[in-house]
Amino acid sequence: MKDFINKCYENKLNNDDIVKALSFEEDNAKILFDIGNKIREIYCGDTVHIRGLVEISNICGRNCKYCGLRRDNSNLKRYKMPIEEIYDLALKMDQENYKTIVMQSGESEAYNKYDFADLIKSIKKNTSMKVTLSLGEKSFETYELWKRAGADRYLLRHETCDSDHYKYLHNEGTLEERIKSLYNLSKLGYETGCGFMVGSPNQKIEYILKDLNFIKEFKPKMVGIGPYIMHKDTPFAGEKNGNIFLTLKILSLVRIITRNAYMPATTALASVGENGYREGLKVGCNVIMVNNTPEKYKALYEIYPNKKCVSENTNTILHEIKNLIKDCGRNYL
Ligand code: 5AD
Ligand code: SF4
Repeated sequence: MKDFINKCYENKLNNDDIVKALSFEEDNAKILFDIGNKIREIYCGDTVHIRGLVEISNICGRNCKYCGLRRDNSNLKRYKMPIEEIYDLALKMDQENYKTIVMQSGESEAYNKYDFADLIKSIKKNTSMKVTLSLGEKSFETYELWKRAGADRYLLRHETCDSDHYKYLHNEGTLEERIKSLYNLSKLGYETGCGFMVGSPNQKIEYILKDLNFIKEFKPKMVGIGPYIMHKDTPFAGEKNGNIFLTLKILSLVRIITRNAYMPATTALASVGENGYREGLKVGCNVIMVNNTPEKYKALYEIYPNKKCVSENTNTILHEIKNLIKDCGRNYL
């Protein structure tokens, strides 16, 4: 173990070390978690960054086999927040001291790209928030338009770094196009985030190794990782949920590999894991996203069932999360 610990601090883990770490049980896993936490402390400090998430539309043109928003799911009522409603909400969030607004939606043409650029400009002009987008794969030109309008960051999970697994999970689109989009975003100056689900159907340890090696090479500014959660209105109905213990080990490894990436304790982790946020913060995470989607839409953004944020009111969640952060001996921004 001593050799492993040194390699973690020197950021010299090789593939064999990573595979071994993924199968750590109790005591060794605890050592891994503590290293993840320590490296977080050294490279990121104690601040937990609170982001305000707004799920602006659940309309989606893609058909990812794991996701409840997939276009073939006709059991879901679709919505699109009017641009003015998003703008008013952004002003309110700015007043409530959110430092970042994350606008997320399914991948679609629901919004005109120029109207959306105007929305980004207005938010940047009239608030002091950073703007993060999570709207799927778009052309280089569209990414450029939104960057010029003032967008700061973009989240686009790569989902898996094995091209056969990518095909299996999506049936359409390619890993190559996905990775190309990520490099386009970085080239345009976005702070870029990738990520994947733990325990998606057919995932193998060797694929996770590929994911981690990609993260090492790509050097994302943000990495989103959560367990896969089964949704009954998808082709993966009846599949098993991802394993929380494995998710936590991967979070620590990502912290060790990236050093200072923004890494959220995800809603998925909090939705299936007991004390998911707390556990995430203890193994290397330094971000929590608070769902600010208006109540009337919230339940309709059902990527997976029983999302933690749906049953509770936004202000209650914010209050609870701030208390939890303080209780973990950390501070927030
Ligand atoms: N369980 C967990 N995460 C999911 N996502 C989509 N569907 C699910 C699910 N059933 C994740 C994907 C996507 C992000 C927005 O949510 O990784 O990129
Ligand atoms: Fe659409 Fe994203 Fe869900 Fe895929 S994961 S179906 S792109 S919302």
